[in-house]
Amino acid sequence: MSADKNLHRQPTRVNRAMRERAQQHRGVILWFTGLSGAGKSTLAHAVEEVLHTQGCRTYVLDGDNVRHGLCADLEFSAEDRVENIRRAGEVAKLFLDAGVIVLTAFISPYRADRERARQLVDAGDFIEIWCASPPEVCEQRDVKGLYAKARQGMIPNFTGISAPYETPESAELVLDTAHLSLAECVERVLRLLAERGVV
Ligand code: ADX
Repeated sequence: MSADKNLHRQPTRVNRAMRERAQQHRGVILWFTGLSGAGKSTLAHAVEEVLHTQGCRTYVLDGDNVRHGLCADLEFSAEDRVENIRRAGEVAKLFLDAGVIVLTAFISPYRADRERARQLVDAGDFIEIWCASPPEVCEQRDVKGLYAKARQGMIPNFTGISAPYETPESAELVLDTAHLSLAECVERVLRLLAERGVV
């Protein structure tokens, strides 16, 4: 494909390993997945804050934010979600190459899309974390008031109501965010990072 488009990869003089040596920690992708209201963003930002305080280079890619810019042209049809997650995976890969600990918070409802994002990088560079708050709890809490709107038919293709969420089968970490405290969830993510030799 690159040859068809007259594209040639440019060699780099500074690579990921050099960046990681300079900053003294590895880069990694922490891929948070789960329903709207399951706590992905809250957890990702809380983990980021701790890591940042420890001097790590971090960045959160949050669906609600990315959809204002990079993915502003996308809606919530199945096709658009596939494209949303394709872009998220590619951007996360770039951040990884920059040596950053990138924390993504997208519903990413389709198993195949999460798997594709995982396959973009080496084994060990992608850690899937399922924020597994039960659908009833997310709907009952309805922090953004979206479930109520979706029930009234005001939001089409709403995940968990009128669009599917395919539960992870290969997540490195499953957190029952409905019952665990935020502090406990942060602790478990940090423990996993330590076990994996990231920080
Ligand atoms: S994803 O399915 O493509 O991964 P993404 O994480 O980017 O979704 O965006 C989800 C956010 O968009 C939700 O947290 C919610 O605030 C908002 N949203 C708006 N419409 C929908 C919808 N139809 N389904 C789910 N979330 C929606």
